[in-house]
Amino acid sequence: MSVTRLNTDDRQLKTKDMKTIKVKLGARSYNIFIASGLLKELGRLLGNYGNFTKVLILTDKNIEKFYGPIVAENLSTYKPKVVALEPGEGQKNLSTVESLYHKFLEHGIDRKSLIVAVGGGVVGDIAGYAAATFMRGIPYVQVPTTMVAQVDSSIGGKTAVNLPEGKNLVGCFYQPRAVFIDTETLKTLPVGEVTEGMVEVIKYGVIRDPSLFSFLEEHLAGVLRLEQWHIERLITSCCKIKAWVVSKDEREETGFRSILNYGHTLGHALEALGGYKGYRHGQAVAMGMILATKIAMRMGLAGEYLLGQQKGLLSRVGAPTDYNIEEVKQAFELLYRDKKAIGGRLRFVLPVKIGKVILRDVSPEVIKEIL
Ligand code: GLY
Repeated sequence: MSVTRLNTDDRQLKTKDMKTIKVKLGARSYNIFIASGLLKELGRLLGNYGNFTKVLILTDKNIEKFYGPIVAENLSTYKPKVVALEPGEGQKNLSTVESLYHKFLEHGIDRKSLIVAVGGGVVGDIAGYAAATFMRGIPYVQVPTTMVAQVDSSIGGKTAVNLPEGKNLVGCFYQPRAVFIDTETLKTLPVGEVTEGMVEVIKYGVIRDPSLFSFLEEHLAGVLRLEQWHIERLITSCCKIKAWVVSKDEREETGFRSILNYGHTLGHALEALGGYKGYRHGQAVAMGMILATKIAMRMGLAGEYLLGQQKGLLSRVGAPTDYNIEEVKQAFELLYRDKKAIGGRLRFVLPVKIGKVILRDVSPEVIKEIL
C-alpha cells in the first residue's frame, strides 16, 4: 500500500487535492481516489479504465435523490441505466440480486460492462456480489457515500447478502476496479450515520494508528463539523490502514484481517440479539470495544488508562461508553450457541495500547468474571 499525489493524467482536477491510495493485490490491485467534489470527475476518471460497453449505476432511492442526477450526468457518455433500490438492510438478499441479474440482462450488461455502486454499505455489498456472480464476474467500482462505507466496507472486496438465518452468509471476495471517495457526500448524512462512521474511525486509531487517535482527540470538533481538511485527513488515514491490512490478508486466511473486527465480536451478537432493529452497528461496536478492553485489562494486557482514552472519544462522538450486563450475557449465550467459540473459547481482538491490538482466545471464565 502506498499513498501518492495525483499522476500527471489526473492533473485536470486542477486545485483539487486528490489523494490516491493503492490496494496492493498483485493483478487485482486497485486505487482508492479521495477528493472533495470527485463525483463531478467520475466520468473522466473512469475513462482511464478502458471502454465499457454499458454502464449500470446501482444506488438506493435516498442516495439517488441527492446524487443520482450528478452521477448520471457525469457518466452520460456511457448512457447509463440507473437502478435505485429501496433503502435499507432489508434489500440485502438473494431476491434483490436475482432481480438485478434480470435488469443487467435487460440493459445488455456483459463482461465488458461496468457496475457503479453509489451509496453506503448495503448498496456496495449487493452490487459487489451481483457483479461477482453475473456471467462469472463483471467489473465494478465503488463510489461510497457514507462514512462507514468510505473508511471500511467499500474497500477490500468483501461482498455479501443476508439469509433469514443471519447477516452476510452468502458472499465472496471480489475486488472492485477502483474506489472513488467524494468527501463532500458526507455533508448530506444524518447525524446518526456520522456517529456510526466515527466509531469505525476510532477503531482504526486503536488498532493501528496512535497519530490518528491523537488527531481525533485534538480536532474532533472540526471533524464533527465535517470541515474539509479534517475529513480528508481522517478518511485518508483510515483508507491507508484498510488498504494495508487487506494487502496483507485479502481473504482473512492468516487471521490478520480480523484486527479490523475490533469490537465486532460482541457488536455483531448485540445487533443479532435485537434482530438488527435494536442497536445500530456503531453503537454495538462501541460497546464491543469497551468489553474487549475490559477483557484485555482482566488478562493483564492493558491498563485502565486505555479504557479511559477510548471512552473519552466514544462519548464525544455520541457513541455508548458502557453496556447493559444482561444484554451482554444474552449476547454471549448467542455466540456460544452459534458455535462462534472454538474449544469453548471465543477469539477476541484485544487492545494493548493505542495503535496495537492482539488476537487472543478468551475463556468463558474470564468473561464471567467481567460480567
Ligand atoms: N469490515 C471488515 C473487513 O473488511 O474485513
